[in-house]
Amino acid sequence: MKAFYVSLKPFLNHGRLSRPADWNKIFGNDFPLIVEIGFGNGEYLARLSAQHPGTNFIGFEQYCDRINRTLRKLSRTALDNVRVLRLDARAGFERYLKPKTVAEVHCLYPPPWPKKSDAKHRLFTAGFLKLVNSRLVDGGILKIVTDHCPYIGWVQDNIPSTGFGVEFKKIRADYGTKFEKKWVDGGQSEFYQLLLKKEQHQPVGLVEDRFMQSYCTERFDPDKFRFKDYSQDGIAVSFKDMLYDAKKKVALVHVMACDGPMAQNIRIVISLTEKGWRINLAEGTMLMPTQAVAQALDCVYQAALASSP
Ligand SMILES: C[S@@+](CC[C@H](N)C(=O)[O-])C[C@H]1O[C@@H](n2cnc3c(N)ncnc32)[C@H](O)[C@@H]1O
Repeated sequence: MKAFYVSLKPFLNHGRLSRPADWNKIFGNDFPLIVEIGFGNGEYLARLSAQHPGTNFIGFEQYCDRINRTLRKLSRTALDNVRVLRLDARAGFERYLKPKTVAEVHCLYPPPWPKKSDAKHRLFTAGFLKLVNSRLVDGGILKIVTDHCPYIGWVQDNIPSTGFGVEFKKIRADYGTKFEKKWVDGGQSEFYQLLLKKEQHQPVGLVEDRFMQSYCTERFDPDKFRFKDYSQDGIAVSFKDMLYDAKKKVALVHVMACDGPMAQNIRIVISLTEKGWRINLAEGTMLMPTQAVAQALDCVYQAALASSP
């Protein structure tokens, strides 16, 4: 197979960045910052950044394959004004962006989660709007575009008391992104845009990483391992599955850790060492060290303890 050469420079491993990140140092200048949330395959990010070489762009996206396609597109320009992170935008805004530093935030076609039972996953809650407001400079802009009219209504209901003034417009397909093309091909011709302008600052502080404790227990019986799901004060941890390598004496526990709407799939390793069974996060997991992840480690520890009393 012929390798496809791309520059990996625009991709930042968020685990190695300071919180908040020093964007002037990363870009080597103090140009204005624009953030794109959920850039997908990067059509808009690549085009906009090429049109505005005097602006720096930060993209948050959750899926690796979409980030790879975006890196290919970015490789076709000689510009150095884009950085992309595989990160939930909620964590990105909470931890990596200082208050009053972002000129604009754009989000094209956020998942509308149309079912009522899925509404908890929607991004632009009043809390997230306040967070975005706090990171925008005075007069900064948040642009949200969707194909889903009820979603716009839901966002509008969340705007009061978030410090934004708002302008609503029906628009035609204008962005040429993968998802927009899909809906145009399906016959949709009308789309919806909200332009939110920051009018009053909402103070939302930076969120710090949680310390990740490493646990050790003398005994562990994989056959009797029973994980108790946890849910309290917006923190939830649920068990997915466990693999056990009896030869190497290593278990890999897969759990879902949720801090409010922010969900992370994480892997926790239980491995036999000279000092007993150590319980740690799997290496190389690009997760956010949140309260739910700390709780997940504690839950695995408790379940390991209980497996062999
Ligand atoms: C419907 S797609 C739209 C992608 C692209 N903007 C387009 O127009 O083709 C929504 C994208 O947002 C990303 N996304 C959803 N929630 C996100 C979040 N909380 N943080 C970062 N990205 C998110 C998804 O991974 C997905 O790629």
